[in-house]
Amino acid sequence: NQAVGIIGIGSYLPERIVTNTELEKTVDTSDEWIVGRTGIKERRVADSATATSDLATGAALIALADAGVSAGDLDLIIVATVTPDMNFPSVACIVQENIKAKNAAAFDLSAACAGFVYGLAIGSQFIKTGVYRKVLVIGAETLSKILDWNDRNTCILFGDGAGAAVLGPVGDGCGILGVELGADGAGGDLLKVPAGGSRQPFTSEICKNRLHFIHMNGNEVFKFAIKIMGEAAAKALAAAGLSTEDIDCLIPHQANIRIIQSAAKRLKVPMDKVMVNVDRYGNTSAASIPIALDEAVRSGRVKKDDKIVLVGFGAGLTWAACVLKW
Ligand code: ACO
Repeated sequence: NQAVGIIGIGSYLPERIVTNTELEKTVDTSDEWIVGRTGIKERRVADSATATSDLATGAALIALADAGVSAGDLDLIIVATVTPDMNFPSVACIVQENIKAKNAAAFDLSAACAGFVYGLAIGSQFIKTGVYRKVLVIGAETLSKILDWNDRNTCILFGDGAGAAVLGPVGDGCGILGVELGADGAGGDLLKVPAGGSRQPFTSEICKNRLHFIHMNGNEVFKFAIKIMGEAAAKALAAAGLSTEDIDCLIPHQANIRIIQSAAKRLKVPMDKVMVNVDRYGNTSAASIPIALDEAVRSGRVKKDDKIVLVGFGAGLTWAACVLKW
């Protein structure tokens, strides 16, 4: 089995910052409430001309440059997203054309906030088995486009952005050491965009009832998240033959600082080993883990040979964790 690791990483965020104070002007909320309940201070929001593939392309180009890999050498592109530009073609195909990755197969993956780690797990299999050499995995979202900006329960939580990683062969004992993926479809109603698909195709009535936007049972998602983050990370660590004391850096999905703190506490990982940037970007769904990983690497928080754990949960419900030796 060929060892597989992340050989290049990048992230790309829209420039526009929307602060909590700005949201106070449009919905009945306050900076104090949002910071206290979520840890979020601001988020990035794409302009009307920018779609998910634009952010994904930006992140992809940075990750390729970081890896020193040319687009033509890619064998596969996987984009994890719940906010594709359109139902089809996939964002992955649009990115393939944008970066001219002529030799790459391409598809999108729907696992919400766990999507990027699902993508790492899938992409790495092709390299492990010797079928492919270079796989690009992207998590990219423009959640601002599916938010009801009149719903204070959801509009304060999310943001836009993209992160990308190039997977390739690495030396034995390095790279991805353990993975845990899971799903529980019974919790599908807790977090969803009810309409716009084949169950409830788009009509003016749908639009009037705001069913094409995110609907969420925040409390139930919260309970699920604090339980599953610790469990998933522990299972991935066990698969890698490691324990929580071995973790140099925990990179959790950035949904809410209270969820992150509870997960870290359950895992007995001190907060100084936990990467947090939810204050600046909010929840960027599939993009959150690669953006946080990119920042952790670029800031020197994650160094060569460090053992890191990526762990996320999301709509579906889904969860995923991955242990890497950097
Ligand atoms: N400003 C002010 N008050 C608000 C706001 C707001 N923005 N939003 C809700 N409230 C009110 C509620 O209406 C409620 O009022 P009430 O008691 O009069 O009914 C009160 O605040 C408390 O609401 P709770 O839901 O109990 O607040 P909680 O502490 O649970 O925090 C939150 C809510 C932040 C949504 C939390 O439940 C959470 O983070 N859940 C997880 C959500 C999440 O991570 N979703 C993404 C999953 S990943 C993916 O796949 C996309």
